[in-house]
Amino acid sequence: MHRLALIGFGVVGQGFAEILGEHGAAYREKYGLDARIVAVSDLMKGAVYHPDGLDIAALLAHRSDLSQYPDAPGLVRGLDALRTIRETNADTIIEVSYTDLKTGEPALSHIRAAFESGKNAILTNKGPVALAYRELQALADAKGCYFGYEGTVMSGTPSLRMARKDLAGCTFAEVRGILNGTTNYILTRMANGDSYTDALAEAQRLGYAEADPTGDVEGFDAAGKLVILVNTVFGTQIGMDDVARKGITGLTVADIEAAKSENARWKLIARVVREPDGTIRASVAPEPLPLSDPLANVNGATNAITYSTDLMGAVTLIGAGAGRRETGFAILSDLMELHSSKAHASR
Ligand code: HSE
Repeated sequence: MHRLALIGFGVVGQGFAEILGEHGAAYREKYGLDARIVAVSDLMKGAVYHPDGLDIAALLAHRSDLSQYPDAPGLVRGLDALRTIRETNADTIIEVSYTDLKTGEPALSHIRAAFESGKNAILTNKGPVALAYRELQALADAKGCYFGYEGTVMSGTPSLRMARKDLAGCTFAEVRGILNGTTNYILTRMANGDSYTDALAEAQRLGYAEADPTGDVEGFDAAGKLVILVNTVFGTQIGMDDVARKGITGLTVADIEAAKSENARWKLIARVVREPDGTIRASVAPEPLPLSDPLANVNGATNAITYSTDLMGAVTLIGAGAGRRETGFAILSDLMELHSSKAHASR
């Protein structure tokens, strides 16, 4: 059995809880995956813990105020994040607090505390992986813990896992992707004649944009994802400052129209190139792509990634890059990986 503690109960945590609530019985039957949420701790909404497991329907019914979660013998209230990680019987910590790409906190401390307590950690939060992947993976390995971070790039679309597992054995000469939904949505709307301001406001309304959309439109979000991709897939360590970064705010309506007349579309392209001498070059910048390029036809908030490989040629994956269910699914996909590795180890 997997005992889960959710640190944070915002959109992503709720999305994951919904998936588990709706499909948990089927997963148990089909995959032998018996997962229980034993604790939830959210800075704003409160905290509940029961060693035998919490009722998912009741959690979701009181999603905005966990103090209303019904009393039960053995129920513990009010544990903060670190106490939840250290003192509950959870064996896997699901870290879904807010993203900070500058310090990685508070998530970074949560993940460290999880591994130091010998617990697995799964997160969708880019900060800790972009800033401290090597340290965290080493800590997880030293403690024999699982570290899942699939949802940090392209939400539940398996962009990292496809490269790490399914394309293992290939060498990547180049990876190019549309890794930010907000900017792709804005560029798509602008190509259809809408203004930048209206398109950004709509992207915020639809929940694609980060709390501060500067992170999206100036390319920081895509750069963070690129750093994660390089560090976890290429095995080379780079930082945010190693990514040459340019956002979309300098693009004018005239630029968009000029591309259109040349059968091209502007896309914010995140790119990693492995030079013949092994040097890795990483960049995020808008590029006009000819319509014959598969990435030119990825529109709206959808993301895509093309791996140029030695053995398989170009492999392109297109799918969601954000969203409640889509990011909730990313957590489930890591939990499935953890589950199958445990099942394998016990054979
Ligand atoms: N703000 C991000 C995007 C959300 O627009 O892609 C997912 O990381």
